[in-house]
Amino acid sequence: MSPPASNVPGMAKSALICLQCGHRTLQWLGRCPDCSAWDSFVEEPPLVARDPKRPARGGATVMIGAVEASVHARISTGLGELDRVLGGGLVKGSVVLIAGEPGVGKSTLLLQAAAGVEKQGRQVLLVCGEESIEQVAARARRLGAPRRTTLTAATDLDGIVPLMNGTDVVLIDSIQSLRATESGGEPGSVAQVRQCALGLTEAARDTGAALVLVGHITKDGSIAGPRALEHLVDVVVTFEGDRGHHLRTVRGIKNRYGATGELGVFEMGPSGLTEVPDASRFFLAERHTGAPGSAVGCVIEGRRPLALEIQALVVRSGSQVPRRVAQGLEMSRLGVCLAVLQQHAGLKMSDCDVYASVAGGLRAAEPAIDLPLCLAIAGSFANRPIPAGVAAVGEVGLSGEVRSVPGLALRVNELVRLGFKTIIAPPVHGADGSSDAGKTGGARIVRAGSLAEARAVLSRIGHSE
Ligand code: TYD
Ligand code: MG
Repeated sequence: MSPPASNVPGMAKSALICLQCGHRTLQWLGRCPDCSAWDSFVEEPPLVARDPKRPARGGATVMIGAVEASVHARISTGLGELDRVLGGGLVKGSVVLIAGEPGVGKSTLLLQAAAGVEKQGRQVLLVCGEESIEQVAARARRLGAPRRTTLTAATDLDGIVPLMNGTDVVLIDSIQSLRATESGGEPGSVAQVRQCALGLTEAARDTGAALVLVGHITKDGSIAGPRALEHLVDVVVTFEGDRGHHLRTVRGIKNRYGATGELGVFEMGPSGLTEVPDASRFFLAERHTGAPGSAVGCVIEGRRPLALEIQALVVRSGSQVPRRVAQGLEMSRLGVCLAVLQQHAGLKMSDCDVYASVAGGLRAAEPAIDLPLCLAIAGSFANRPIPAGVAAVGEVGLSGEVRSVPGLALRVNELVRLGFKTIIAPPVHGADGSSDAGKTGGARIVRAGSLAEARAVLSRIGHSE
């Protein structure tokens, strides 16, 4: 986009506004300094005061209790892990955006979902903007799915909209590859991406087709897209995974038809994505019990508890500035845990390198992992393993106290299900008082008020084993 005529040097300037985040500027900018969107500035239309002499007529209102709640007809994708994140499947006439980095497996997920939908006798259209029809068909054959889905190589909006009639599910791979003639700019620019998404959304509402848009994002957010689309669509899910791991996760970050925060877990293998319904067992599968520096905790993703292994390695540093590396957890959390361990447990690690990670490639950003993280670090430092049947849950405060976490009963039940015999948990506190009622089936919940108490519990168990 070129600068608006009024902002050409020598002419009076009008305010420009970023279409993504509302940032205002007088100077034309190619990239928004606030939200990093490219090509997102348009002239701000002036606000006109209302003419007080113009008669006003009120709009219709209705009492909230009198509005009948509509039950949305859902179309299952055949992938339970994806359906759960969507709130039960795709909703007719709604729009889902699947955002992820290139190569993570978005096209594979779409093909497998197409197979699941067509198995129910529904019509699926897949718009192949990224790869040729031959490439897509070859991959579909290799994955053993799907066969009756129709493919199109049309990438202009006017060509796609008529194809949506009579189709149950329309999959667009990807929104960045489409072009709308009404809008200027290259495919993938904010203007094009928004125009195409808007046109397709309207067509989905008109035809009742469930629409799924794939949107690429890169780590630095340099490709226009998903951020510009979030408020246009009904559901936004992110598809994430590390190239070095098989783990792939689908996370709901916006959902007009269900809860957000749900997590779906898949494994990428030679025959595509496999669902991982028992994610806790998956994350603990490769655990090397008896090794120092490993502790088991439990996070809650959406409504689901997820047990995971936290690993730590503390080694004497060979450099002046010791290294601190956090993988799958926040660096700030590692920093706080190290400071608390130094101050309240007397562990001096200022001349040590400390590596901490969540095993299996998951990202865990919950305070409930503080306690297992501290215990893993302390275990590695002292070269003492945590006994195999022990797990820990709790936030660690700056004074070394162990603080309560939400959903304790849910976490305890999950750890008990997995066979843990001792669960170190925060002290009973207010609403959490009844949580011991969780199905403990022979397991013990040991309350620890501080990091020191939690470590004392470990040494008691260690000696008695
Ligand atoms: P793809 O779905 O093309 O990713 P995206 O559409 O997000 O760019 O898949 C990307 C990677 O997945 C590719 O590098 C290879 C890997 N992959 C497998 O490991 N197994 C498979 O069966 C398939 C289809 C892909
Ligand atoms: Mg792709």
